[in-house]
Amino acid sequence: MSDPVPTDRPGKETGQYEETDSVTRRKFFKVVIGAAAFLNGLILGIPFLRALINQSPLKKLSYVEVGDIGSLPAEQPTDMNFPLRSSDAYLHEEVIHSVWVVKHSPTEATVFSPICTHLGCHYKWNPEDGRFECPCHGSVFTISGKVIGGPAPRPLDTLPYKIENGKLFVEWERFKVGISEKVRA
Ligand code: FES
Repeated sequence: MSDPVPTDRPGKETGQYEETDSVTRRKFFKVVIGAAAFLNGLILGIPFLRALINQSPLKKLSYVEVGDIGSLPAEQPTDMNFPLRSSDAYLHEEVIHSVWVVKHSPTEATVFSPICTHLGCHYKWNPEDGRFECPCHGSVFTISGKVIGGPAPRPLDTLPYKIENGKLFVEWERFKVGISEKVRA
């Protein structure tokens, strides 16, 4: 049996250092991969977290400019459209919404959601008969939103608003349909 070959690294002949180096490398790669996975999860998770917060019933609404109401005729329902930017996870889009506005004075109005409280169709104002009518199942509402016919379970939903310098701003929100209480959707 021959003597072990002398080396300048003690333990090399036993493989002890190679094993230690290999364990250290493995640990290093584990840490790097773990950190990369964590960062990746964080980056991917942020939009979903934002979407969750946006869907929260506690989400704070803000006023959106609808338009000039100075020239609207008084006590005459008017359909007003406005763009609203929405964010859902990665998707950002601008959607055109509408509201029915009944102006009472330069500083007072009633703003109705355009969504029928029965099953969510868009109703119209019938100027001849002076009432709101839903084409889907025949619900009928007065100019103040009260149900006077059809299956609608509650009056038309009003939206919070403010008027500043002749401009109308509303807090756009949706409510559950088909139930007698006005509950945020
Ligand atoms: S959705 Fe309007 S009456 Fe049914």
